[in-house]
Parts: sequence; C-alpha cells; structure tokens
Amino acid sequence: MVVGTGYVGLVTGTCLADLGNFVTCVDSDLEKLKVLEECKSPFYEPGLEERLKRNIDAGRLTFTSSIRDTFQETDIFFNAVGTPPQESGESDLSYVYSVVNEFFDVYKELGCQDFKILVTKSTVPVGTGQEIISIRDSYGISDDQVAIVSNPEFLREGTAIYDFFHPDRIVIGSSNEKALDVAQELYSPLYRSETPIVRTSLQTSELSKYASNAFLATKISFINEMANLCELMGADVSDISKIMGMDGRIGKYFLHPGPGYGGSCFPKDTKALVHLSEKLGYDLKVVSAVEVVNESQKKRVMSYVLDYFDHDIAGKTFALLGLSFKPNTDDVREASSLTIIELLLKYGAKVKAFDPEVKSLTQFEDNQNFSIVSDSYEAAELSDAIILVTEWNTFRELDLIRLKASMNHPSLFFDLRNVYSPEKLSDAGFETYVIGRKLLSSSQKITQNG
Ligand code: UGA
Repeated sequence: MVVGTGYVGLVTGTCLADLGNFVTCVDSDLEKLKVLEECKSPFYEPGLEERLKRNIDAGRLTFTSSIRDTFQETDIFFNAVGTPPQESGESDLSYVYSVVNEFFDVYKELGCQDFKILVTKSTVPVGTGQEIISIRDSYGISDDQVAIVSNPEFLREGTAIYDFFHPDRIVIGSSNEKALDVAQELYSPLYRSETPIVRTSLQTSELSKYASNAFLATKISFINEMANLCELMGADVSDISKIMGMDGRIGKYFLHPGPGYGGSCFPKDTKALVHLSEKLGYDLKVVSAVEVVNESQKKRVMSYVLDYFDHDIAGKTFALLGLSFKPNTDDVREASSLTIIELLLKYGAKVKAFDPEVKSLTQFEDNQNFSIVSDSYEAAELSDAIILVTEWNTFRELDLIRLKASMNHPSLFFDLRNVYSPEKLSDAGFETYVIGRKLLSSSQKITQNG
C-alpha cells in the first residue's frame, strides 16, 4: 500500500505494480481518486499514464480513500505524503504523523497480529523514524509486529519512471533485520539488474536524502556563481562546466547554470537541513550559502533588464518562455519564472508567457498585465524582450528570425539556460544575453549579486 498520490507516491505505487506486486494507492482527495480511476494522472509525468492504465487493467493497481480497505492483506505500507516547508524552514510533518497514527489505530482496531512494515518514503528530518518507533511503542505494539523502515526516494520529476527502474542506489534503513530482508526482496528485480542496495540505520538513511539533495543544490549554486564570474571576466561557463565535468572526481552532472534551482525538493530540503542543524546548535555554513546564492540567482536577470532599460520598464512587454521549474513537468513550485514574473509586474511591465504544459498561474490570474499564450511566437509578438527560463526541447528549435521579426526594436533575448550560442542569437538580430557567456553589449557590469 502506498499512502499519498503525489508524484513520489503515485510513481512508486505504479512502478511497484509494474514489477508484479498488488498495490493499493490511498489518498484522502476524492476528486483526485476519481481522476486516477479513469487511468489519468493528476499531474504531467512522461510515461506515467500508460503504466497506470496497464496496471489498473491488470487488476494490480487500485485506489481508495481509506487505509482500512486492504489493511489486513497488506504487508508493506509506504508513507509518501507531503512534507511541505513551514515559514521557519522546518518541514511540516503533520501529514506524515497523521498517517502513522491512523496506521497504528487500524492495526489495533483490527486486532492484527501478523508482521507489517511501515516504510517512510517522504523526505523527513533525521529522528522522525525514531519518533515513529516511540509512537508505535506507546500503542503497545512491538518491533516483531510492526517494523519501522526509512526508504528515501531519489526520483526526479520529469524522468521519474526511468529513475524508478534505473536507480543509482536503493537505501533502506532500519534496526529490524527481517524488515530489511523483506524490503530488499521487494526491490530484488532492480537489485538483480545490479542496482546497489545500501542497508543502514534509520538515521543514516534519513540524512542520506538531505545530504544528496543539498550536495546537488551546492553544485548548482557553485556553477551559477562561476557563470556570474564568467560574465565579469569574459570567460565561457559552458566550457568551464565541460572542463570541470571531465574530472571524474567532480562529475559532469548538475553543472548547468541557470536562473536558480526550484521545485518541491531542493529549496525545501536545503532549508530543512539548515533548520535541523540550527536546532542541534550547528551552523551549516555551506548549505546556508547555497540558499543565499540561489535566491539572488533567481532575481539576477532583473538586474540586467533594469540596467538596460534605465530602471523604467513600465509598459514594456516581456515574452517568457517556460514556466515550470524544469522541463517535462507542469510543476511550478518555487520556479524561478514566478520570481521573474512577480518582479516584472511590480515594475509595471507586461508579461506574455508560454509553457508546453503549464496553462494557468492562479497567483497572476487577476493581473491584466499577465497572460499565458499558446505558443512561443505569440508570446514574442510585439514584445521588447524574450526571457528563456526553462529549457523545454521545443525552445531549442525556435525559428529565431521569425521570432525577431514580430518583436519591437531593439529586440532583447535573455537565454538563462544556455540553449543558444551568443553568435546564433546575435546573427538573428537580437541584443543578446546568454548566462555565463555573453552580456548585453550596452550592459554595465553588474558586480553585486542580484
Ligand atoms: C531532485 C533530485 O534530483 C532527486 O534525486 C530527488 O529525488 C528529488 O529532488 C526529490 O527530493 O524528490 P527534482 O527536484 O525533480 O529532483 O529535479 P532536478 O532535476 O534535480 O532539478 C531541480 C532544479 O535544479 C530544477 O529547477 C533544475 O532546473 C535545476 N538544475 C538542475 C539546474 O539549474 N542545473 C543543473 O545542472 C541541474
């Protein structure tokens, strides 16, 4: 059973069913369940709908709003509900604990005696597993009846199905050897295809997820700062990334500069890790700096925009290409596009946005200066500048001459993802900014962050 049908829960449930298991996915949102029962995914994730359909049709995947329905016959329960950030940066664990309490209530009420495993899939602070053990003990339930396991998820949105079947590693943490054996067996089809399985303690497993996400976020903030430095020094960040990545000790991944990382994971997990460390009296300097750099990176393009237009962009029109926090998803949580739109609107500019999957942004819905249009060319029409925010494939093949022809003069192109070479954009007649490679020719050097 998988509780929570967010992208982690639904992808995990569907892929476990694909491996031949009988899986019940539980969610309290009845509307969402209706959508799922029609074999539709409530969010865009490539390859998910066809797998949903295949497993629903085969009777291996069912949906319900209550964990009671198939409780008795279930051996392994995955808790995959959300852990949203609070104002303080701390994760809100109320959904996690509500599932935990309901699990033990039902276990007691049904008079269960057989061995069950409660696995935490959600990203939770170190110590949560231990707290769940204390809750279990307070119900008078023993480790022989219910074992507590941590099994963090390393899937990425947009490639979640591929990541499930080709993980770099599977981490399972518990002090209960029998539970570790059962969890390992569940993943054995992947294990047999050479995926390493790391068996460890609850605490180590919990921290490994934060450590991994914080390190990836560090790589991004690092290369973003190198990009900013390249702009000041006349160096080329795309070559810097390539050269650094050729060193096996550094690794070539997560060295693409951009307008800062977004999504539901890196921003939340870095904040939570800093908060967790503070509580223990430890000042986590590197990760704190990573967050500071990321916040200023999200706003950095605005420095160039304001500088170019002498701080007067009222009435100017900006075409924003890409709204989601990364390609192949319709998720806009913590997306840099939101920061950029907010600032453009604040300065009185108009924004016409296009994204292949994001078709509405409720927070800007009432603003007359904001609209979402149906393609890149419509966005560019009569605009003063294009800002390429998310590197969807469709933005890699734009007819630059056609785009430019319908724009106001001068026509600016801010490429925040290094999709085009500066020469290609300049040849098409654009006043060009390419992150870490080319400043606008008239731009004064922006030395301050943000
Ligand atoms: C991230 C991790 O990569 C997953 O391993 C993890 O399971 C997941 O968080 C999670 O904790 O659930 P995700 O947020 O889906 O996955 O997406 P990423 O591909 O990691 O991208 C995150 C952000 O970093 C995006 O805004 C992306 O544009 C940005 N990014 C990524 C860069 O700016 N440069 C890069 O080189 C890579």
